[in-house]
Amino acid sequence: MTQKEIALLTELTPIVQRQLPKGLFLCVDGGAPNTMTIGWGSLGVFWGKPVFTVPVRPQRFTYPLISKARSFIVGVPEDGALVDQRMKAGTWSGRDGDKFQRLGFETVKGRVVDAPAIKACKWQIECVVKSAVDLTESATAPDVVSAMYPARDFHTLFMGEVVACYETER
Ligand SMILES: Cc1cc2nc3c(=O)[nH]c(=O)nc-3n(C[C@H](O)[C@H](O)[C@H](O)COP(=O)(O)O)c2cc1C
Repeated sequence: MTQKEIALLTELTPIVQRQLPKGLFLCVDGGAPNTMTIGWGSLGVFWGKPVFTVPVRPQRFTYPLISKARSFIVGVPEDGALVDQRMKAGTWSGRDGDKFQRLGFETVKGRVVDAPAIKACKWQIECVVKSAVDLTESATAPDVVSAMYPARDFHTLFMGEVVACYETER
């Protein structure tokens, strides 16, 4: 990452924090390019590096793709933009057809990782998975298990080192 990218990532951290509950676009390849909405996650520091951690439940179409690709791009829209698309990408499944096409999204190749980047998103955060951590019932507080995991479909946390961060060329 260049100094410019590190500076932009620092600027984006509160934007990501603010926007996550409304949804960001997690984009992967792994044989079938796909995107899904994430509402949880964290952009922080691990192993002395900037790391974006994204939680993916095992039943998502995205799950085997990100597991295989071990890389992803988080697309961050401008505040208040792509509201409808955030909901649709978080409701529709890539199993039912090309979600980019159905959402009317044009994509470009990632600069560093092999994943699609959504042109309609203002910023791109490209990541290489350095660890994938399965949440477990025994490690999780009972109130969280009953509230969030009644089906015991615990997330895997994909911890991606940020390898590129830039404003999308449009
Ligand atoms: C606002 C919002 C936030 C979401 N956050 C997550 C998340 O953090 N992790 C997750 O596994 N699913 C999350 N989902 C659900 C997935 O986006 C949804 O199941 C999607 O259809 C999966 O697509 P896929 O089957 O193509 O992978 C969220 C959905 C919405 C609407």
